Amino acid sequence: MSDVSWDDVRLEFPVAAETVYLDAAAVGPMPNFLRDAAIRAFTERQRPWSDAGVKIRARAQAAFGRFLGVDPGAVVFLANTTDGINAAANALDWQAGDEVVVHDRDFPSNLIPWLRLQGRGVQVRAARSEDGVLTESAIEHELSKRTRLMAVSHVFYQSGFRIDLAALGQRLHRDDILLAVDGIQALGLLQPDLTHVDFYSGAIYKGLCGPFGLGVFYVDPSVADRLTPDRVGYGSLNNPAMPWDGDMPYRAGSQRFQAASVNYPALHAAADMLEYLEAIGFERVTERILELAGRALARLAELEGIRVVTPRDRRSRLGIAAFQVSGLEAEAVAAALSARGVRVAARDGNLRASFHIYNNDDDIDRLVQAVHAVAREERG
Ligand SMILES: Cc1ncc(COP(=O)(O)O)c(C=O)c1O
Repeated sequence: MSDVSWDDVRLEFPVAAETVYLDAAAVGPMPNFLRDAAIRAFTERQRPWSDAGVKIRARAQAAFGRFLGVDPGAVVFLANTTDGINAAANALDWQAGDEVVVHDRDFPSNLIPWLRLQGRGVQVRAARSEDGVLTESAIEHELSKRTRLMAVSHVFYQSGFRIDLAALGQRLHRDDILLAVDGIQALGLLQPDLTHVDFYSGAIYKGLCGPFGLGVFYVDPSVADRLTPDRVGYGSLNNPAMPWDGDMPYRAGSQRFQAASVNYPALHAAADMLEYLEAIGFERVTERILELAGRALARLAELEGIRVVTPRDRRSRLGIAAFQVSGLEAEAVAAALSARGVRVAARDGNLRASFHIYNNDDDIDRLVQAVHAVAREERG
């Protein structure tokens, strides 16, 4: 399938025939074959004695393992990205005076679980981004001898800026600082380099175009064995005997976080989508998304009164093209674009067009024409 045409891919996504959908960074639209996966999964449940659950969990772990470049046994399924961030934040043995560094404009789910640690005497320091870009020096400014962990999004939801996980992780590990990554804005779109990442959390309803209610969580094996999971159940322990004496021999590695059953129908969707993207070629998918967003950024930058926010350098972005229309509120522009059949998001002062493999150059033309018309109209 590596030679599949993008026109054929587009046909799998009914949304593409209906509207110019540039909002996968909010919710990825479901392709036909994933809707069919749900029917398959629920049909399986009509015979609940089968081992279908065990099989689909293993298949999904294997698919995520290949995408993330990690051991499938280290992949855990939780409810969503936020769930994984909380699992990480609550599992470490925090000491009063420990410090955590966050990105001041990160998505709330990657701030609130860390900020709550202040109640345990942890100090949270915010590295300040400029125009949505978090620089090395802004991070360096907040690091200290007390820093134990930095939490950051791989791709920032508001500006589309992509941080270099390998470089950041290497820098932090030099001082034994852990790196926790919110990966949801890149999951399915770009294989992350997790060599120097300790925690990774995402969900399948954006880039993987799946249903809500399934998160993927990874912990580096060298870290996982030191952690006390905040959620425990029959899946967490090595020894199924009841720990009446309070002694909890947790399962090795990240599986200690897999306390119980998971969302099996959603696992079908995740495995099917990952295998579909893999058959196209993960790198080819990333290339396509980078190209579409790059073309949109270049075209928007040529328009009068438009300020492009997302960095143009390919290594510092992915599928998001964020911009502003001078003198206009982002929400008003997003509503006017929607009325013209172009769906983008307004996020924290920016307009955010986000691209996926079902988009094409016609969508970019329609976006640029609509932005041009709205900007001109509103200026009178
Ligand atoms: C960067 C980022 N993190 C977390 C979330 C929330 O994800 P979830 O619903 O999977 O917890 C979002 C949703 O928009 C997001 O953009």
